[in-house]
Amino acid sequence: MEIDLDLLNRFERGLTPWDLEASAVPARLLGYGEISAIFEIEGLPGLALKRLPLFIDRGRAEAYAADFDEYCALLTRAGLCLPAARAVVAEPVPGRPVSLYIAQERQPADRLGQALIHTLPRSEITGLIRAVAREIDRVWRFNRDQAPEIEVAIDGQISNWVLTPGGQLLYLDTSTPLFRQNGRERLDPELLLLAAPGFIRWLLRRLFVDDVMNRYYDPRQVYSDLAANLIKEQRPELVPLAVAAINDGREVEPLTVESVQKYYRHDRLIWTVFLTLRRLDRWLATRVSRRRYEFILPGKIKR
Ligand SMILES: Nc1ncnc2c1ncn2[C@@H]1O[C@H](COP(=O)(O)OP(=O)(O)O)[C@@H](O)[C@H]1O
Ligand SMILES: [Mg+2]
Repeated sequence: MEIDLDLLNRFERGLTPWDLEASAVPARLLGYGEISAIFEIEGLPGLALKRLPLFIDRGRAEAYAADFDEYCALLTRAGLCLPAARAVVAEPVPGRPVSLYIAQERQPADRLGQALIHTLPRSEITGLIRAVAREIDRVWRFNRDQAPEIEVAIDGQISNWVLTPGGQLLYLDTSTPLFRQNGRERLDPELLLLAAPGFIRWLLRRLFVDDVMNRYYDPRQVYSDLAANLIKEQRPELVPLAVAAINDGREVEPLTVESVQKYYRHDRLIWTVFLTLRRLDRWLATRVSRRRYEFILPGKIKR
C-alpha cells in the first residue's frame, strides 16, 4: 500500500486533535470506535486512518507497528480476511508524543455491519450474524491448534465487520494487536491506559485493565459483545435472533437475552464513564492548563 509520507507528516504537524476540522491539512471523520476516531485526510483518498499518539520515542512506535503486522498475519492465518492496511510512524514533532498511523483501505459506509443491520431484510441479518459468528469461531479454532504458543484476541462487534458485494466478510478492528505468546501478553497494557486521563489511570489499572484485555480472548464474552452491540447500534429487537444464531451449534454456555442485556448495561457504563472522563481531561487541558490534548475524541454517541 502506497502512502504519501510527506503529506502524513504535514498532517501530523498541523493537527489540532481537539478540533479536527481546524487542522492545517483538512480531515473528515469517518467513524468512532470505543477508543479512537477514524478519519480521512485530504490528499490521501481511499484511506481510513487512525492515529495513535502513544509513544515516547520512535523505537516504541516502530515496535507497535511490528506487533500490528504480526497480529494481522495471525488473523489471516486463522482464516480471516482483512482490508489492506499499513502502520507508519509519523516524523516526530518535538515536545509531543510520537504518533503511529494505521491506514486501511477505506470501506463503503453502506457495507459496514452497523449500516447493514438497518438496511438488510431480517432473514439476511440473521445470515450476517451467523456468518460473523462463524468468522469469530475461526479464531478459537486457531487458538486451539496453536496452543500454548499463540493465542489471539478478537473484538467481534458488528461495527467491526464489512460485507463486500461479493459476500466476503472483512474484519476491520486490527489496530490493537492483542495476542499472547506462551501466555504472555504482547501489548503493554500501559499503552491502553495512555488514552485515559492521567488522574484516573491508577483506578483503571486496578479495576478495568485485566477485564478489558481478557474479554477479547473469551468466546462467551466476545459473542455477548456481538449480540450486545446490536443494542448500541439501535436494533435491540434483533437481540433474540442474534442469541439464537450464536447459540446454535456452539459449545459455549448459551447466551440469553437477559445475559446480553446485562452485559450491555455493564459495558455501556464502563465506556460512558471512560469517555466522560476523557472529555473532562480534554477540557482541563485545553481550557484550564492550556496544554495540548493529543486524542481525537468521539462526538456524542447514541447508546
Ligand atoms: N477501513 C475503514 N473504512 C471505513 N470505515 C471504517 C474503516 N475502519 C473503521 N471504520 C469506521 O470506524 C469505526 C471504528 O473503527 P475501529 O477500527 O473498529 O476502531 P475501534 O478500535 O476504536 O473500535 C468502525 O466501526 C467503522 O464505522
Ligand atoms: Mg471497533
